[in-house]
Amino acid sequence: MSDLFAVPRLPKELPSDPLQWVKDWLEEAFAKKTQRNPHSMACVTVDSENRPAARMVLCKDVVPDPGYVVFYTNYKSEKAQHIQDNPNVALVLHWDALGRQVRIEGQAIRSPAEESDAYFATRDWLSQIGAWGSDQSAVLESRAALLAQVRDRALELGVSAVKNLRSITASDRNMIPRPPHWGGYRVWARRVELWIEGRDRIHDRARWERSLEPRDATSFKTGEWTSTRLQP
Ligand SMILES: Cc1cc2nc3c(=O)[nH]c(=O)nc-3n(C[C@H](O)[C@H](O)[C@H](O)COP(=O)(O)O)c2cc1C
Repeated sequence: MSDLFAVPRLPKELPSDPLQWVKDWLEEAFAKKTQRNPHSMACVTVDSENRPAARMVLCKDVVPDPGYVVFYTNYKSEKAQHIQDNPNVALVLHWDALGRQVRIEGQAIRSPAEESDAYFATRDWLSQIGAWGSDQSAVLESRAALLAQVRDRALELGVSAVKNLRSITASDRNMIPRPPHWGGYRVWARRVELWIEGRDRIHDRARWERSLEPRDATSFKTGEWTSTRLQP
């Protein structure tokens, strides 16, 4: 039978490591400027009563070996509370312009502090202050109260007392340490699905699975990936 579709599909022989493909697809999405944040991904957590909640986060790293992806957030946020109660997480990346979707399911574990420190140091200065300034997911009285809180905390961090933080020039920007309640999560993949859009809804799907057993407080012992194709 002739090939039904012109779009590139998954190879006949499925790759042995799906996360290397995820990394390559993400790089391609950046290179082709498919959208403003090609690394945005839906992140689903489950609360203590098994109710799922989804929100977008930014995928800041894909590490095929040993197989996890990284996002950063506030460890006091609602999602962090969920992860503490139940570390099972589902992630979805979607590049509409490329007709590709990635699904990752696995277990979230906090990144090592040094890794979060190193990443925090690369962030924009105002974003660093923002990480101290906002109690993510806490109830907010008013926008004005939030701005006052950010300013007050900036002053506590030794920022020079001016009305507009943006007006502080680079030479007057002091070093801001990482807040202890802010950092990364590594989501260790137990299941990965690559999806490529096909014509007439005849999409191309493949799923990889492996075992994931806690090795210690910061990592997992992983089994070999096994792969299978799925009907669209
Ligand atoms: C494109 C996009 C990217 C986002 N990236 C992040 C992120 O990397 N980390 C984060 O904590 N929140 C991020 N947010 C905000 C979250 O979606 C969410 O509002 C916030 O984390 C609070 O979620 P929670 O109350 O469920 O913990 C992003 C939102 C959008 C729309």
